[in-house]
This record gives sequence, C-alpha cells and structure tokens, in this order.
Amino acid sequence: MGAHMFDYLKPLPADAIIAMMQQAKADTRPNKIDMGVGVYKDSSGAVPIMRAVKTAEDIILGEEMSKSYVGTTGRAEFRRLMLDMVLGEQFHAPRIASSQAAGGSGALRLGAELIKSAAPNATVWVSDPTWANHIPLISSTGLKMDKYPYYNRETLGVEFDAMLAHLDTHAVPGDVVLLHGCCHNPTGADFSPAQWDRLVPFMLERELLPFVDLAYYGLGRGLSEDSYGLQLVFEHCPEALVAASCSKNFGLYKERVGLIAVLCRDEKTAQIAQTQFGAIQRKLISMPPDHGAQVVERILGSGELKRIWLDELTEMRGRMRNLRVLLSEALDVQGGAHIARAVADQNGMFSTLPVSAAQAEELRNAHAIYMTNSGRINIAGANASNIPHLAEALLDVLS
Ligand code: LMR
Repeated sequence: MGAHMFDYLKPLPADAIIAMMQQAKADTRPNKIDMGVGVYKDSSGAVPIMRAVKTAEDIILGEEMSKSYVGTTGRAEFRRLMLDMVLGEQFHAPRIASSQAAGGSGALRLGAELIKSAAPNATVWVSDPTWANHIPLISSTGLKMDKYPYYNRETLGVEFDAMLAHLDTHAVPGDVVLLHGCCHNPTGADFSPAQWDRLVPFMLERELLPFVDLAYYGLGRGLSEDSYGLQLVFEHCPEALVAASCSKNFGLYKERVGLIAVLCRDEKTAQIAQTQFGAIQRKLISMPPDHGAQVVERILGSGELKRIWLDELTEMRGRMRNLRVLLSEALDVQGGAHIARAVADQNGMFSTLPVSAAQAEELRNAHAIYMTNSGRINIAGANASNIPHLAEALLDVLS
C-alpha cells in the first residue's frame, strides 16, 4: 500500500431509501407524491414536530443547567418509562437489562452486539422481505444471517405456515428470530393475535430467541394492540430482546432516540447483561445522544404532556387509517380488488404493492410518485386530494 491509503477505497452505492428521499425532495413537479422514506407526514406534506415534543423542549430549554455526560446506558428514568409503556405488566424489572440507544438502529446494533458476545455462532433470522438496513446493521457485528419466508407478493399476506415450516427445518436451538412487533417494514402485513399465540410456543419449543423490533409502536392499531406480540413474548419466553424506536411515534427522527432491552433468565444474568450494554455502547459511540431521550422522559413522566402526545399519536394513526380506506376504495375496481383489500388490512405507514422495480421507476418518471423499487409505499406521503391520482397511476402501470 502506498502513501495515499484512501486511493484504495472503492465507491459504494448510496442507501436506496435515503437516496430516494433526496431525489424526491429535489423534484419540483406540483403533482409529486412522495411515499418513499418512512417518516410521518401531515396532510400538507410536512414532517411536523409534535406539540408535546415542542412543549417538552421549551421546558428543557428553560430548566437544563448542564450538558455534562449522563452515562454509557443513558437515562435510567427514560429507560424505566419506556419499558413500562411497551411491556406493561410484563415489565419484570429485575430480569431486564436495558440501554438508551442512538435510535432504533442503535438499539438493534446494541442487541446484535450482545448476541454476538453471548452466542457468536448464532444465526439471526429475518423476514423476507425486511427493512433494507436490518441485514447490513446486524451482520456488521459478524453474526450470520438468514431469511425466513414472510410475505406472499401474490396474496399480499403473511405466509405464516411457510415461515414456521422453514424455521422448523432450518433454524437450530439458540438461533435468533427477528420479529417486527407491529407495522411490518416494508409490508405492513402483521401477525394476527392468533398467529402470535402460535408463534410464541413454537419459539419456546424450538429454543429460538425472539428479538422484537418495535420501530412503529402506536402507529398500527393502538398502543395495546401494537404490543400484543411483544408482551406475549416477554410473558412466556425465558429470554428475549426488544429494540424500540422513538423516531416515528415521537417524530424525533434526527435526534436518535431508542431503547434496547433484554429479558434474562434471572436477576444475576440481567446484571451482567447491563454491564455488557455499557461496555458495548462505550466502544461503539461512548454514550447515546441525550436531547431526544430527555424529551421522551419529560413527556412520559408528565400526565398532561403524555395526554397531549397520546392524542397526537391517535390523530396520526387515524390519518393513516383513513388514507388506507380512501386508497383501498379507489383501488377496488377490476384488477385492483386484492390490492385494495391488502391496503385496508395492513398496518402503519407501509404496504408493499405488487409493483416491479421497472413499474416503480415508471411511477416516478411519468407520474411523480415515489415509492421504493420493491413496491413499498408510505401511506402518510399521500393525502385525500391526491389519492385519485395515485390510484389511477397505480392501476395504469399495473394493467
Ligand atoms: C424507512 O424504512 O424508510 C425508515 O426506517 C428510514 C430509514 O432509515 O430507512
């Protein structure tokens, strides 16, 4: 290697989702519908700061007296409030170790590093398809990864029996199964409660470790509905992990707020896992960012702010549900009925439509409609007045 070491670097492609976010932003066509990146938008197309967040920030701005370090696992009260919210009665504090993380991605990475420390030969199984960054993020720890069947692009539903059969044949005890707690990214197709009821005993019997990614909590059917599977997992499995994000439900994307938690067999093991989280975070980024976690702590710790936040979350969820109904009605014509049904049944921001990469490109070029090349739409990118244009263009390219 010569003196100019960086000459040896190879160019890498830009992340598809982030590149599309920039491409859509630069598109000035008035009929543009940006359904790309997974951020919540209001009916004017803005990605708003929630009122509860603004109020909490105002209070913090006035009261905060120091910017000194908090610690490698972040704020203890933030962690307690988050665990209380997502786990409810399944919150067995002594058996849980947790850490504040740099967003849901930071939480996934801490969880993956913990698995790597404990079981370096475990395979992490992810749904096919899954969020595009799951595999790079988790496999960068050196863990092996593989896929289980999940979404049927013809029926646009979950292939639950195929998933169980595949894991039954190919996964071995001690492997990890990454599950989307709600609002599956990219498909919007979630397990029904009855499927969770079958999945948990299956995992227990096969000694598979559930790792629940809860990136869209509260944006599906409601707070308790969206944590049904997670709470079942924490109630019945001796060991489990959850990575929760505050990016979407608190709209705190760029502040990077998340939480990783692990349920251990006993208290002593949880104490050891706690030391691991601290050490892992320290070697990766030293400490998580604080501002967003402080905001979430303020909101969840104050009756009044929490009420405001819950109202806003309900409004966001309602807006997306309403858009799903409108799009479904507009697609419920010859050739579009099965897509219409799926769009209405699916949860959260995303649905994966049976659109090819070439059709997604045509939608961008000819109709100013942005979705990923895999056919994922973010329903929050639409509004009541452009749904007819969206449905017409979709039916046009699919015909
Ligand atoms: C998405 O899936 O679009 C979001 O989670 C944003 C991202 O980082 O990919």
